[in-house]
Amino acid sequence: MRKEVVLITGANGEIGHGLITHLGQKDDVNVIALDVQPLDEKLKPYCYRFIQGDILDQMLLGRMVVEFEIRSIFHLASILSTKAEYNPETAHRVNVEGTLNLLRLAVEQSQWQGQSVKFIYPSSIAAYGLPDLETKNRAQKIKEDQWCQPITMYGCNKLYCEHLGRYYAANYRQLAADPGRSSIDFRALRFPGLISADTIPTGGTSDYGPEMLHAAAQGIPYRCFVREDTRLPFMAMPDAIKSLLMLHNAPKSALTQSVYNVTSFNPTALEIHDIVLSYFPSAEVTFKPHDSRQRIVDSWPGDIDDTAAQRDWNWQPDYDQDRAFSEYLIPAITKLYAQAPKPA
Ligand code: SER
Repeated sequence: MRKEVVLITGANGEIGHGLITHLGQKDDVNVIALDVQPLDEKLKPYCYRFIQGDILDQMLLGRMVVEFEIRSIFHLASILSTKAEYNPETAHRVNVEGTLNLLRLAVEQSQWQGQSVKFIYPSSIAAYGLPDLETKNRAQKIKEDQWCQPITMYGCNKLYCEHLGRYYAANYRQLAADPGRSSIDFRALRFPGLISADTIPTGGTSDYGPEMLHAAAQGIPYRCFVREDTRLPFMAMPDAIKSLLMLHNAPKSALTQSVYNVTSFNPTALEIHDIVLSYFPSAEVTFKPHDSRQRIVDSWPGDIDDTAAQRDWNWQPDYDQDRAFSEYLIPAITKLYAQAPKPA
């Protein structure tokens, strides 16, 4: 049986870990992993090939086009929202030009293969931008086409790349004599904050949720950079992986849009604190808001509407708030740090 070749960029990232571990166990998939850093040893058994390199390196991507017959691309590589604000132009290059390069690779692949290549793109709640806290608190669950005025470079990049993907899928080279020879099947998810038991995010602004939990599990004091009443939608990592795969596998005829919200629960920072303390009663958490990061989180929705995903491809998370902590996060994290050497 010919195996389906799947390219995963940003392999070392949080979603990369979850997705590679999942796909790498399937008999009918060969995972090609790409990352600028050497691949995490733990992921190596799940990858058919690992390529260390930069998504901005067009020569490298060009070589990949001739070497592999890639059927699907999960383009996860990105500079997250907080990190992007420290160097917005670099973030733009990685997040936008990098995505453009991958879309180009997908077009070339599809030309060689004479068939469509799937392009799965994780977008974010950062694509939204509510003008002030009062509007955020008043807003109901936000739909995909509402409040799309992001205030961060990362959010602008994500929103624009959703449009780029739609363009490449539907209108690429629309004036060419034969515009129809390549085709990309572009599908995007707008993720809420993600919480994994195995990894800690780097450079994001929803990071206070996972950071609080991981610090508590290690017995490290944590200073939370947002106010107690800050509310954001979140999702457990297994559900993020599930949603990526469900969207990837959904029949094209069922899809009515190219970008879908997905979410699960939406606690305040204080509610996360209370849950964490109920499992780790000696945890030390203080709240010391960082004004600029608070402003970013205040511009993101308190909840999002994922009924389009429910309707079109039967999306439902497996983990609500209680199950996410009691059945996934707490058991896995306790095991993780029981094995790990104690921090100095
Ligand atoms: N988790 C991301 C961040 O905080 C949002 O997609 O940047």
